[in-house]
Formats: sequence, C-alpha cells, structure tokens
Amino acid sequence: MSPDTQNSEQPPRPKWQARLKALRNIPPVFRMVWEAAPGIVVSSLIFRLLVSVVPVAMLWVTKLIIDAVYQHLSAHSALPGIFWWLVVLEFALASVATIFARANDFCDTVLADRFTRYISTRIMEHASRLDLTSFEDPSFYDKMDRARVQGTDRVMMIQMSGRLIQEVITTVSLAAGIFFFSPWLLFFLVVCVVPAFLGETHFAFLGYSLNFAQTPDRRQLDYLRIVGGSKDSAKELKLFGLGPFLVGRYRAISDRLHRQTVDLAKRKLFFGALLTLLGTLGYYGTYAYVIYRTVMGELTLGQLTFLAGAIAGASTNIQAVFSTFSGIADQALFLTDLLEFFSVKPRIVSKPNALAAPRPIRRGFEFVNVGFSYPGNPRKVLSNINFTLEPGQRVALVGENGQGKTTIVKLLTRLYDPTEGAILLDGVDLREYDLEDLWKEIGVIFQDFVRYDMTAAENIAIGKVEGANDIFHVRNAAMKSLAEGVIKRLPREYDQQLGCRFDGGVDLSGGEWQKIALARAYLRDAQVLILDEPTASLDAKSESDVFHRFAELTSGKMALLISHRFSTVRMADRILVLADGKIVEEGPHDRLMLAGGRYAEMFELQAANYR
Ligand SMILES: Nc1ncnc2c1ncn2[C@@H]1O[C@H](COP(=O)(O)OP(=O)(O)OP(=O)(O)O)[C@@H](O)[C@H]1O
Ligand SMILES: [Mg+2]
Repeated sequence: MSPDTQNSEQPPRPKWQARLKALRNIPPVFRMVWEAAPGIVVSSLIFRLLVSVVPVAMLWVTKLIIDAVYQHLSAHSALPGIFWWLVVLEFALASVATIFARANDFCDTVLADRFTRYISTRIMEHASRLDLTSFEDPSFYDKMDRARVQGTDRVMMIQMSGRLIQEVITTVSLAAGIFFFSPWLLFFLVVCVVPAFLGETHFAFLGYSLNFAQTPDRRQLDYLRIVGGSKDSAKELKLFGLGPFLVGRYRAISDRLHRQTVDLAKRKLFFGALLTLLGTLGYYGTYAYVIYRTVMGELTLGQLTFLAGAIAGASTNIQAVFSTFSGIADQALFLTDLLEFFSVKPRIVSKPNALAAPRPIRRGFEFVNVGFSYPGNPRKVLSNINFTLEPGQRVALVGENGQGKTTIVKLLTRLYDPTEGAILLDGVDLREYDLEDLWKEIGVIFQDFVRYDMTAAENIAIGKVEGANDIFHVRNAAMKSLAEGVIKRLPREYDQQLGCRFDGGVDLSGGEWQKIALARAYLRDAQVLILDEPTASLDAKSESDVFHRFAELTSGKMALLISHRFSTVRMADRILVLADGKIVEEGPHDRLMLAGGRYAEMFELQAANYR
C-alpha cells in the first residue's frame, strides 16, 4: 500500500470540522465545472439571477392590486390609471419566470452531460498516468471506484449550487420584505428552520460515512457479479457448480448492506419528520400573528397578502437554502475521494530535462547490483542481480515459478524502479531517460497480455497507436508473428471483431491470441524486444516456426526471452538461471549443459518427459 492511500480507509468521524473542511473541495470542483462548460455556466447564472427576484416582485404587484381593489370597493374611489397595467405586469412576470425556469433546466441538462464527460475522461487520463503499483493496491481501487461514481453523481451538486444562488437571492428579497415589517418575525422564522438544517447535514454526513465504509463490500459485489456472469468464468462456473455458491455470497453481502442502508433511512425518516414539523410551526406561528394584526386593523389587506406570501415563500426558501446547502456539503464530502484520486501522483515519471532514448543503443542494458521488493512487502524478490543485455544479443531467463523473471522485465521496462542498485542503458541510469521515449524503444509482450475486444487489425495496431491506420505495417507484423494464418481464416479477416463482448465477435484459441499479441511487438519495431512466455500456448510446430523467425527478425536487436520450454531457451546466446531472486548460472546452452548444474538438471528433467 502506498503512503498516499494509507489513511483513506478510516471512515471520517461525523464531526463538524470535517464537514466544514469538506467545503474546501468545492472551489476546485467549480474550476472543473468552469473548464467543462464556461458558456453554459454563465447563461445559467444569468437565468437564475433573473428568476430569483420574480417572487418578491410578483408579491409586491399583487399587494398593489389588492389594495387598489379594496380602496375601490370600500371607498368607491376610481381605480388608479395603471391598475390594468399592473395585472398585465403580473402576468408578464409569471411568464418570464416559467420560461427562464425552462431555460435553466436546459442549461442544467447540458452542463450535467458536459461535466460527466469531462470528469470521466479526466479520470481515464489520470489513471493511465499512474504507477503500476497503484493498480496492485486494493485501496486504490476503492478510491478510483468512488471517484468514478462521483464523476457521474456529483453533477447534482453543480445544479444544487445554481439553485442555492437562486434560493438565497429569493430568500433575501422576501426576508427584506418581512424584516421591514418586523425583524422579530423574521428571526422567529429562521430559528424554527435551523434544527431541520442541522438534522439534514447530520444525516448527510452519516450517509457519506456509511457509503465510504461500504465501498470494499460494494466492490466485492461488483466482482461477484462479474465472475458470475462472464464468458471467462462460465466454463468453470458450470462444471464446478459455482452458481449457487456465488449467489449465496452475493446475497449475504448485499443483505448486510441493505440492512445498514435501511437502518439509516429509518432514523432519518423519524428525526427528519420531527424537525420539519418544527419548521412548519414557525411558518404558521408568524402567519397567525400577521392575520391577528390585520384583524386588529393595523395592516391593510394588501399588506396581509404580501406578508402571507412573503412568509410562506421565505419559510420554504429558507428551508430550501439550508437543505440545498447541506446537500452541497454532503456532496462536497464525496468530492474528497474525487480530489484524492486526482492527487495520487505517479512516482515513476520522467525527470525535468530528461534524456532522449539513445538511437541506436550502443552498449545496451546493464543491471548493477539490482535488488527489489514490491511496495508494501519487505520480502526481497530480487537481490544482487548483475547482467548485461547488449545489442545483437538474445538473452533468455529461466527459473521456476515465482523466481522473479517477470519482475526483471518490469524493472527493465521501468514499470518499477529498483529498490537497490541501478539499471544502466548505455552507461546512464534508466531514471535519466524520458519515460515515454524509452518505452518507444521497447516492444514487450507480457505473460498476461491483453486480449482487446476490438478488430484483428486494431489488436495489432495497438502495438503502435501513432500509426493505427497503417494497414500495410499491420499486415507485415502479422506475417512475422504468424498471425497472418490465423487472421486469414476469420470471416472478415483483418476487420473481424475479436472476443465475445460485442456483436459479431469471434473468439480465438489461446495460441491464436498469442500470435496476434506477438504481432503487436513486431509492429513496434523497437530496439529491444521482450517476450515473457510468448509461446506457452503454442503448439510445437508453431513454436519452432515462431522462434526461427524470432531469431531472424531480432538479429542486431536486443531480445530478452522468458520461457519454461528449453527447446526455445536453448537458441538464446546467453541463458540466465534465476533461483531465489539471484542469478545462479549464466552462459550459453552448451556450456551450461557441460557444467552439469541446475540448468542441465532442469533441461534433462524436461527432456526425459519426452522420451
Ligand atoms: N505485484 C506484486 N506485489 C507483490 N509481490 C509480487 C507482485 N508480483 C509478483 N510478486 C512476487 O514476486 C515474486 C516473483 O514474481 P515474478 O512474477 O517475477 O515471478 P516469475 O519468475 O515471473 O514467475 P512465473 O514463472 O510464474 O511467471 C513472486 O514470489 C511473487 O509472489
Ligand atoms: Mg512470470
């Protein structure tokens, strides 16, 4: 586990400070919103400002109308000249409010969509830059999961923020009207609403804590869902009769989560209802007081109407302000994860002013006393590794499972940095080179290479995305790796969709996939070629063909080869035998055989099985 993820697994304790602190998340997110859609943000703000003052304006016009009518009826005076214009004005205000509210909805929809798209791409971009270590750390997945959900769910917060501005202005304008009449009345109204607000935030926070604590379980559920319904596991699932077992496990976990969620919802229902009642009491208390003053003849009918409307409006809006605000605070808490995810920085990066990779490589790679242990696990996977890989050389790595062969590849390709010693390329530490430039010179196919659910051509072109449309080179690479024969048999040849995920896809055998993956490495035309058990699934004839070609194609280049098949290994110029993270023997096949050590022993063991 890396240090920047260590503390994140403590669910935050429901404290006010934490809640307020989370509000600090809002500005960076607003910056993202702004970056995602500046034009829409501005229009939305303008619409909201205009809509927010409509209620108080309407109430005031209503008051003028009612007072005029009352005067007209009780004192038989003429209606004022502008009377009918007032009626028209009220109608106009109502229309404007409706139209702008619609425009607002429109802006919200567009903004939500833009923001979601923006965040999703940023998460993908960021994830692609992170160290491999991050992806081997479960707490990182929890964090990324939460961040991903936030990308799509937090859109609400943005809409709420717009609404908050509108509600605040409406409230202030209505409250000003009430304040003018009686400051105490306003005070009473506010005091009755505050508890509801506190309750809201409290439960929002509990909701967040619960959600946070539930993430690992939810990921378990996702995993079970995937295992229970994927092509890769379907065979074993059936034959081992795993269905009921997986369903049972899924049910147990989801039941537990459900109980927790309902528990919280119940408490929220009870206390929330209680506190809202208090708010209603505030409203009716003030309302009754205003009626009383009117009956006593201290207020006109128009004033009564205005105040009744203002109190009702203010009361609803104050509650709305508080609940929107606490909604935002709640969302802000969730943003912690999003921002935390973005703050995970890759540690394996290019230095400023990094060197370009040497072209051509003259002296090759040199491991100098390299030792390595994986982050979070002190056990030394490699120690004191010394060897060179020079231009024109084909070096093979052999050793039993778990001896560190793949780890050496990860170090050579700088997916990890050694914990001891150094790896030199042309006499310069690997860390001095520009990463991306270095990677351009390395073609590597890992044991667990990826089978992309894309077309055959794309599966190869992925080896060099810059030239993805270059079908000539793709075919050429396919020819070299013997993938050509596989592809020619497909109904749509190079345009054939591979894999079972999408419509019309065709799945390949393990060996066929391997030939396709191999083409990817050839397409790259890199100076270093690394194959980590590239032929494990190939039949004997294919393997022999592949290696004859490999020998031709890599002449003059550096090649590092890992294989458990000694028929393959023996063609290397030099063989390194790994045991317990150390190189225990080194040399060409014949010499190692003569030496009669570990290599000879392993070779004989395998050969004996064929006799
Ligand atoms: N990401 C990781 N985190 C912690 N330990 C790891 C990680 N990857 C590998 N290891 C450990 O490092 C050791 C060497 O692993 P490595 O994958 O290099 O072996 P290998 O020689 O390639 O084996 P195989 O022949 O099975 O491919 C193993 O004991 C393994 O448990
Ligand atoms: Mg391996």
